[in-house]
Amino acid sequence: MKIFLASDHGAFNEKQQLLQYLKEKESVEVIDLGTYSADSTNYPEWAKKLVEKVKAEKAVGILLCGSGIGVSMTANRYSGIRAALCRDEDDAKMSRLHNNANVLCLSGRKTPIDLIKKIVDTFLSTPFEGGRHQTRIDQFNLLGE
Ligand code: RB5
Repeated sequence: MKIFLASDHGAFNEKQQLLQYLKEKESVEVIDLGTYSADSTNYPEWAKKLVEKVKAEKAVGILLCGSGIGVSMTANRYSGIRAALCRDEDDAKMSRLHNNANVLCLSGRKTPIDLIKKIVDTFLSTPFEGGRHQTRIDQFNLLGE
């Protein structure tokens, strides 16, 4: 499984720890798109960079910022992107089962790293249920055109 990973400065340390965690997984190829230091930067540029890769390669993305809110709002401006801000494992589970989320958004400032790892594991291992949930996704795909 190919995973693109990116954050702004607000979650740089957590992104680095998550990168190490994902690198240890044999089933995962993780690509770190930045940011590459704790210097102040703007979250939309990292969300844009990641979303473009996720769309081009039909891959999974993980985005972090201080709250997780900025990156999720930015990512969801792109068609075909279903970005879910998850603050616990149940959010991650439901975002996959019912929403077929393809981008996981996380808060570096509110979510401790051990919980971040659990959320990521749940997100990566939960399949989409399809059926009536696909009907709902088809419906919201038509909005905002
Ligand atoms: C940066 O201070 C912070 O605003 C950003 O990481 C994020 O939380 C925005 O939504």
